[in-house]
Amino acid sequence: MSEPRDLVLASGNAGKLRELEALLAPLGYRVRSQSEFGVSEAAEPHDTFLENALAKARWAAQHTGLPALADDSGIVVPSLGGAPGVRSARFAATPSDGRPSDADNNALLLKALAAHSERTAMFVCVLALVRHPNDPLPLIAQGVWPGRVLESPRGMGGFGYDPLFQPRGMTCSAAELSPEEKNRVSHRAQAMRELRVQLAATSWVL
Ligand code: IMP
Repeated sequence: MSEPRDLVLASGNAGKLRELEALLAPLGYRVRSQSEFGVSEAAEPHDTFLENALAKARWAAQHTGLPALADDSGIVVPSLGGAPGVRSARFAATPSDGRPSDADNNALLLKALAAHSERTAMFVCVLALVRHPNDPLPLIAQGVWPGRVLESPRGMGGFGYDPLFQPRGMTCSAAELSPEEKNRVSHRAQAMRELRVQLAATSWVL
């Protein structure tokens, strides 16, 4: 059997690294974190998940010389014009603040929706994979997990907005799902499945 090919993950997140390793190992890839190479987190200045994911992947490829995979994700609420969206992690931040806590972000989301009866929401994940920094044909995969924002937080599992998110067709919040169940149905799981199909089908291998 041939040696696994290295792929760098444009994130220092250990959880994402584990999930991606399990997904990509059967296809002959070994996922390595950009922090292993001393690469800092890329800026995420754009208005779309796609642009931010691509910027992060290019940055990691440029600084490691390896093919790179990036994930950009968040919660989108149509009655708030798509907010928190690409600003999900920083939703409750003030200009002088660092990264706000999940509890602060959740409290602000509840406040923003207080005057709305329409609470439809979706978790979104975009994955971008570049073979090199100037790859003209990146692989792009998207996952959307539809649901609604609850009136108050429920459950202790997951992270981020999970306690406020009720997936469509379920009576619990995302924070009340087991990690295994969430990993089967989430936006990230869907995007990963799609990426895997594309990787298996591409004639331009990494
Ligand atoms: P990132 O992909 O780590 O940049 O995540 C962006 C932000 O979106 C996170 O900090 C969370 O606030 C939110 N988010 C992304 N995915 C999830 C999820 O699966 N559950 C809850 N919140 C999420």
